[in-house]
Amino acid sequence: MAAATAAAVSCCHGCWLLLLLTTAACALGAGGSSLELLDVESLLLHADAAAASCHTQERKPGTTRMPVVHQHGPCSPLADKRGKAPSHREILAADQRRVEYIHRRVSQTTGRARRKRGAAPVELRPGAPSSSTSPSSLSSSSKSANLPASSGAAVDTGNYVVPIGLGTPAERFTVIFDTGSDTAWVQCEPCVVYCYQQKEPIFDPAKSSTYANISCSSSYCSDLETSGCTGGHCVYGVEYGDGSITVGFFAQDTLTLAYDTVPGFRFGCGERNRGLFGEAAGLLGLGRGSTSLPVQAYGKYGGVFAYCLPATSSGTGFLDFGRGAPAANARLTPMLTDNGPTFYFVGMTGIKVEGRLLAIPGSVFSTAGAIVDSGTVITRLPPSAYEPLRSAFAKGMAARGYKKAPAYSILDTCYDLTGHHQRQGKIALPPVSLVFQGGASLDVDASGILYVVDVSQACLAFAANDDDTDVAIIGNTQQKTYSVLYDLGKKVVGFAPGAC
Ligand SMILES: *[C@@H]1O[C@H](CO)[C@@H](O)[C@H](O)[C@H]1NC(C)=O
Repeated sequence: MAAATAAAVSCCHGCWLLLLLTTAACALGAGGSSLELLDVESLLLHADAAAASCHTQERKPGTTRMPVVHQHGPCSPLADKRGKAPSHREILAADQRRVEYIHRRVSQTTGRARRKRGAAPVELRPGAPSSSTSPSSLSSSSKSANLPASSGAAVDTGNYVVPIGLGTPAERFTVIFDTGSDTAWVQCEPCVVYCYQQKEPIFDPAKSSTYANISCSSSYCSDLETSGCTGGHCVYGVEYGDGSITVGFFAQDTLTLAYDTVPGFRFGCGERNRGLFGEAAGLLGLGRGSTSLPVQAYGKYGGVFAYCLPATSSGTGFLDFGRGAPAANARLTPMLTDNGPTFYFVGMTGIKVEGRLLAIPGSVFSTAGAIVDSGTVITRLPPSAYEPLRSAFAKGMAARGYKKAPAYSILDTCYDLTGHHQRQGKIALPPVSLVFQGGASLDVDASGILYVVDVSQACLAFAANDDDTDVAIIGNTQQKTYSVLYDLGKKVVGFAPGAC
């Protein structure tokens, strides 16, 4: 799998920059609904990396606000100037693998009955492929042979990265942040067996005065869903759905978030890492499980964090921790916590197109359940919710005179915007809103309605699950420009518009 992915990522030169449609979203009052205006000119502008506005973090002591950029966008420290960004097909295929992984995980942890594929847990294979190494004695703990919650296949695509500091003195690393997994990890020296290529120098624990291994007898070691023991030291392991793997010592060291520190942060120090993580140094898990950063640092930040994903791949958003996280005007919905660990479940209740609630029985949403995920690109809906959305959206697009274009990968409702974009610069889209328990609504920004493969092929950025019983996933395309707030203490998730 990794090899197949490697072959596929080398194809695209600069087309990545066309991916994220740049927008100037304007709300024009129009009798209860508003008109979403999409600035197609700026799409072309942003095909030029020079147009990118890349901000750095604020220099305020005590602040935790980190800049968030798209992993492969021009502001990313990981952006590959040689053009090795993944293609749209590769991104969407990887997105589908992640979704299948999340569906497997959710059906395992919630005990939902599954009628078809995928119920089998992925298991760690101790001893594969080079067992002559430390830490090689990784084995699943008796409590579970299943994988720890992790972000699924191909975490290298469709994701956002932040800078963190690790160790004393702090070394700076660019890591993927992921609300769909818990345990943080970075690649560590010595890479006993193998490390994948990363942009920054690999973390060397020997150079940090605050690094410590966690012992096998520590209760922290038993927090891991999958753990092992080597020479008295706790060993962690995560295998992703595509065969990507990270194995190493479970350790603690000082974590630096912007200008704040979290001493004794527990993370995986990976000495055996394989997979395509897009040259990121590792991953920061923001899930609800006991090993995640928000849970570990609960005393400090109260289980509160918020992020904003920028409208375009050349923009900059933020990730912030603590009660100061910007979400003053957030529309709140309850965080549903009895569905197992890790994922952020919310109660989705409806979908609006052009300000009108679609006729979808509430049971469709309650049967499936819904999670908010920072790492899934395209929002997935139960087929019985997707069909009415697609048809209402298509009607709105037809009324505005847009010509249909062929389907693309998992996206089946596409339009050719060529003439429109030349005539008007901005194009109008039917507004789409997702409605949640408590009345909170996510009025999707114009940048989050279409996935633009090309001006001649811009597709509704939603897709149907295979089955009405599969969990719905609110993907990161639809979250763009909102401050998405997570409060583990108050058990709420919130959406504040226009935050970045
Ligand atoms: C952590 O454990 C590894 C493997 O046993 C060892 O090489 C290293 O020196 C330990 N580090 C510390 C700070 O104890």
